[in-house]
Amino acid sequence: MSKFKAIVFDAYGTLFDVNSAAEKCKDRIGDKWVSFAHYWRTTQLEYTWLRTLMKRHKDFWQITEDSLDKSMKTFDIDSSMRNELLNLYRKLSTYPEVKEVLIKLKKKYKLSILSNGTPDLLNNLVNSNDLKNIFEDIFSIEEVGVYKPDKKVYDLPTKKYGVKKEDIVFLSSNTWDVSGGGNYGYNAIWVNRNNTVFDNLDYKPKNEVSNLTQLLDIV
Ligand code: 2OP
Repeated sequence: MSKFKAIVFDAYGTLFDVNSAAEKCKDRIGDKWVSFAHYWRTTQLEYTWLRTLMKRHKDFWQITEDSLDKSMKTFDIDSSMRNELLNLYRKLSTYPEVKEVLIKLKKKYKLSILSNGTPDLLNNLVNSNDLKNIFEDIFSIEEVGVYKPDKKVYDLPTKKYGVKKEDIVFLSSNTWDVSGGGNYGYNAIWVNRNNTVFDNLDYKPKNEVSNLTQLLDIV
């Protein structure tokens, strides 16, 4: 018997490389592509938190567009690239190890995604990366209309599976999402892909991995 009942993955930044859209245009964006990609991502996340606090929900695609528009102006990127960047964002690549690890884990565990993305965006990402049939469920925050780290979001898999919070392993590369899931009660593991520093937000993950392959030694 496995000690955990389900493994739940964050999507953006954990399974799918949020910088891959800008990276595919780096020849035209130039050296600033990394700073631009980070700014776009940070602005996108800030908008999710701010909209939740202001109670002015917009879905993740609209937020991705709004944050892109601000980022393109900030980094003086030619507006002709807008559609291309958005199309690439719909088809973000996975990190290299993701598919192989998921196939192995699926033999032993129920796997699901819990993400800020809309059902449509998440299904497109799963399909375009050939990950069909891997996930038991794709939980989107659209079901509750608020963004992570609201408790209502982390409740989605717990309620659906009827299990204890600590029986769920939750993985995210986003420190704030690990803090959110961990404070909620999940066994939250940090995927520290960029060797950075963890939060001071009342939860320290028992486990930290630098990529998903290392998860195979833990679960
Ligand atoms: C996700 O929910 C936090 O963006 C991250 O997929």
